[in-house]
Amino acid sequence: MSEGQNNNEYAGLQFDGYECQFPLVRGTENETGIDISKLRKETGAVTLDYGYVNTAACRSSVTYLNGEQGILRYRGYPVEELAENSRFVEVAYLLVHGKLPTESEQEHFSTLLNEYSMIHEDMRHFFYNYPEHAHPMGILSAMVVSLSSFYPEMSQGNSQLGMSEEEVDVATTRLLAKIRTIAAFSYKKSIGEPFVYPRHDLKYCENFLNMMFSSPVYDYQIDPEVVKALNILLILHADHEQNCSASAVRLVGSAGVNLYAAISAGISALWGPLHGGANQSVIQMLEQMQREGGDLQKYIDKAKDKSDPFRLYGFGHRVYKNYDPRAKIIKSTCHDVLEKLGKDDPLLQIALDLEERALNDEYFIRRGLYPNVDFYSGIIYRAIGIPENMFTVMFALGRLPGWIAQWKESREDPQFRIQRPRQIYVGPNLRHYVPMSERE
Ligand code: CMC
Repeated sequence: MSEGQNNNEYAGLQFDGYECQFPLVRGTENETGIDISKLRKETGAVTLDYGYVNTAACRSSVTYLNGEQGILRYRGYPVEELAENSRFVEVAYLLVHGKLPTESEQEHFSTLLNEYSMIHEDMRHFFYNYPEHAHPMGILSAMVVSLSSFYPEMSQGNSQLGMSEEEVDVATTRLLAKIRTIAAFSYKKSIGEPFVYPRHDLKYCENFLNMMFSSPVYDYQIDPEVVKALNILLILHADHEQNCSASAVRLVGSAGVNLYAAISAGISALWGPLHGGANQSVIQMLEQMQREGGDLQKYIDKAKDKSDPFRLYGFGHRVYKNYDPRAKIIKSTCHDVLEKLGKDDPLLQIALDLEERALNDEYFIRRGLYPNVDFYSGIIYRAIGIPENMFTVMFALGRLPGWIAQWKESREDPQFRIQRPRQIYVGPNLRHYVPMSERE
């Protein structure tokens, strides 16, 4: 990782009558940070930054995101080029290993993904004990942390700190291979069908689709258009720098827990409707609009009303103040997929109308609120047969290589230390215990 620091540049801070100097840190794309590592030592003060809106938690070389210009690159490669030319497994390799694979590296990686794709038979029994309508995200998170009991390849008390590079490679590849089996099994469980095992002759996405949709009485035909769409969706979700779930992975990982525990925390964070859970909320919102006769203005007005908790799901982003580049690709893929599969989804027209209204509305214009990655993805998932409660699981499948890359990078960082923010205490000052009989 490049140091990203210019020792001759400083920012000054006037505080309590004297001036302190803090070094500037410049990224490779000229992003600027003020390194305040010594702030408390020098001033006794801390920073207060709700939502970490102004705080860089680390230096990272995984993903470059420029929200003003709508740029997203993995390891320097524009996401548009990757979505057009690459497959998800190649992008996963790129994120985890930092470079595009050669042919033999790709072949080896794919072979390992197949070899590790089964889950321990005892783990299979876990699925049976969930209630019928358990959400697959809850199952996914629990199953991923359970992997640490079945595959304790980590040395030194299961901690990430004692793992060799080779052990890290095995653990991360194992997780990438098994997560799609777990995801497909959780779906089969939710519909009460028998599990379909992974097949060594199928590639990553094909294998997943087969485990989802084949059954003892139905031989699922893998459609190359569906495979292409799935590859694009997974690639577009593969990383997004220090978002809420990646930060959860890094934060939990910073305690030294094993990989599976850290990723499980990321899955739980992703589930939230303000994060990856928004893809399910978007479809539920569009369905509700359809049921109620398509009064879109009513929902636009609700979203603008500060006394109403409703938000337009699939709109807005902490970092993008311009069109989310992922949403642009997903929107056009959505048209392609529906056309090629000969499907007509009335929700697409509702979504298009809603977008048009919002983008012409002063409230959304002034705040720079555009469709995000979750706005159109659900319509593609519906078209390829993925049920609503699996949408966020699909996001997790895609995001896994990013979480792994972020986790690996944090443990390799020379400045790795446990993450432990400060606070500004605003509670009562010292007071003394009063016996219950004397309390008013
Ligand atoms: N509908 C209505 N108003 C909105 C929305 C929305 N979807 N998003 C933001 N705003 C308003 C917000 O109320 C605020 O208004 P004001 O300045 O008057 O207080 C202003 O826009 C700025 O928003 P913010 O709350 O400061 O934005 P944030 O960075 O804290 O939150 C967000 C980002 C994504 C959580 C938020 O935009 C949101 O809740 N969107 C809907 C949920 C959603 O689609 N989430 C998926 C995000 S993309 C996938 C991922 O990577 O997680």
